[in-house]
Amino acid sequence: MTEITMPDGPSSSRFVQGATALTAPLWNIRRLRRRYGPTFTVDVPVFGKAVVISDPADVKQLFMTSPEIADNLDVNLGRVLGPNSFFAINGDRHKKQRKLLTPPFHGRRVRAYEAIVEQEAVREMATWPQGQAFPTLAPMMRITLNAILRAVFGAGGTELAELRQLIPAMVKLGSRLAVLPIPRTDLGRWSPWGRAFAYRLRYDAIVDRLIAAARRDPRLDERDDVLALMLQSRYDDGSPMNRDEIADQLLTLLTAGHETTATTLAWAVERLRRHPDVLHRLVAEADAGGSELREATILEVQRSRPVVDRTARQVHAPSMELGRWTLPKGQIVMISIYLMHNDERLFPNPGAFDPDRFARQRPDTYEWIPFGGGVRRCIGAAFASMEMNVVLRTLLRDLTLAPTSDRDERWHSRGITWCPAKGGLAVISRRPGRADLVASAATSGDAATSGDAATSGDAATTTRSTDGQEA
Ligand code: HEM
Repeated sequence: MTEITMPDGPSSSRFVQGATALTAPLWNIRRLRRRYGPTFTVDVPVFGKAVVISDPADVKQLFMTSPEIADNLDVNLGRVLGPNSFFAINGDRHKKQRKLLTPPFHGRRVRAYEAIVEQEAVREMATWPQGQAFPTLAPMMRITLNAILRAVFGAGGTELAELRQLIPAMVKLGSRLAVLPIPRTDLGRWSPWGRAFAYRLRYDAIVDRLIAAARRDPRLDERDDVLALMLQSRYDDGSPMNRDEIADQLLTLLTAGHETTATTLAWAVERLRRHPDVLHRLVAEADAGGSELREATILEVQRSRPVVDRTARQVHAPSMELGRWTLPKGQIVMISIYLMHNDERLFPNPGAFDPDRFARQRPDTYEWIPFGGGVRRCIGAAFASMEMNVVLRTLLRDLTLAPTSDRDERWHSRGITWCPAKGGLAVISRRPGRADLVASAATSGDAATSGDAATSGDAATTTRSTDGQEA
């Protein structure tokens, strides 16, 4: 029989460890890292005993492990996103879906969406107040939500308006329910699960209308949106994606993609206001049409403020070797993105915000891991990188962001993501000469309702993928 060997860890009760992890999660994980090294075992509610890893060799080994040996957790977002969601499927089914949906998210392909992102950024920024502090998180969420609804769902007109209203409430409720037990009895339509079910019915009805309209569209093959590509794609046996797969995956892409990207952008605002030297250089670079420092800055924001602080795998084989340990079937292994990104050996002076570290050297795939890794690496990484680049470029070009000597904003947990506690406060003024563009964007409401990717201004200039992987 295989001998199971687990890394060391605190011996206090699950309740005590859970309470510490809940009240001071980042402080707690730093403390455990200091005490036990990069690998340790914790015992917490919901997950039970979980091994936490942050050594690059272990992380690389786990990311490269075959999905038959270790794959997604049994309890995850798939419970609220549907049985066909990326998060709910494993092994062969997961591989087939990745094969079908990777091409629309490839670096070269996502450039087609730059114009949509720029339109949404210009339109949103035109409403920002001048000379007074305001949190950028909610406006960034509107930009990324609209961008995904248009570029991924291909939504326009009534459907776009309805989804914009429905999705924020639906996603908020869903992320709370993701880790709660599903009740055995029906608690009625006003219970959280009852409300989630009602939201889902409304969502399905809208998606059905989008699918029906796309099927009637004689120019479907000319469309760039991901829904149109899904409808035309075929599995190896020639069969198409069915309606339930499309509905679950669209919701998955949206849920995984909009808050993560918006939160990173809010952190970018928070970081840049506290680093006026970098901000100054970025403005000069954007004015000259460059992008190198901006790309390095986004990489550094994601290193120093990873909005998703961990990802995880669960052992599916009878046992799994990881480093010098042998873990049992069912064992959860958490990869601490936060600890890796703060490892002095990988990123000297990790507490410093220093985009130049990535101007000198591209990040290593298994050390800079805000998008996870292996066969489950974030499918939207290139999309998110393009989006952050275009939004930041638009901000630097159209607005002046006032530096601040305020203290760093603290990390605040929103459940799945970590955001700046004050929402990434900004103080802006409009740059002279950009007022005409800004005013016309503010008065034309069609940017968010047309549903097509107009190519205007310099939005069509290509952006090199900054996600550290795909070109
Ligand atoms: C800055 C923005 C983003 C961050 C930080 C982020 C982060 C992550 C992370 C850490 C994972 C787990 C990877 C793993 O376990 O190895 C993930 C998975 C995923 N992400 Fe993202 N993500 C972002 C944007 C997006 C966008 C824009 C989309 C889609 C439009 C997206 C769609 C997905 C999907 C579908 C998965 C599941 C992939 C699978 O299980 O095969 N994400 N993301």
